[in-house]
Amino acid sequence: GWKAEKGEKVYLRRHTGNFHEVSLVRPEDVEPGGFETVFPFRESEREDEHALVAALKRADAPVMLIRMRPNQAVTKRAGQEDFNYGDLYAYSKICTHLGCPTSLFEQQTGLLLCPCHQSQFDVFEYAKPRFGPATRPLPQLPITVDEDGYLVARSDFIEAVGPAFWERKS
Ligand code: FES
Repeated sequence: GWKAEKGEKVYLRRHTGNFHEVSLVRPEDVEPGGFETVFPFRESEREDEHALVAALKRADAPVMLIRMRPNQAVTKRAGQEDFNYGDLYAYSKICTHLGCPTSLFEQQTGLLLCPCHQSQFDVFEYAKPRFGPATRPLPQLPITVDEDGYLVARSDFIEAVGPAFWERKS
């Protein structure tokens, strides 16, 4: 996993197929009803090519960045603050069942699908599992935009990423 130092920026980078290319994401880059896979990386990793490549290869890094349509209401978890930025929501892409990457977002139903054992997560309701073997919601990544209009993480994921048996570094 990654931890940002206090005050350090954590950018979201889009998948260009080229590890060495840094392509940051603005809110308007994702269409309403659309989604994109993005990767958090720290400001300090931006200037260091090896650190950047390592950051992008981390198994727990990928994030599903989803943009709701303007009229789609999203229910947050009871007692929790808002982690979204407007109609943009960021969730770990890593299925909480056995760690496959979720691959599809159905904008009509709000369901995020994992192809491995067909778990479905309800993005209209904080990505809690609706169907299949997964029992934990996908952890959300709190996001905002920086002074240049790029999406950044406000902190680490709100919960541990991936299945419970994954080794955790404290
Ligand atoms: Fe996603 Fe099993 S890994 S449903």
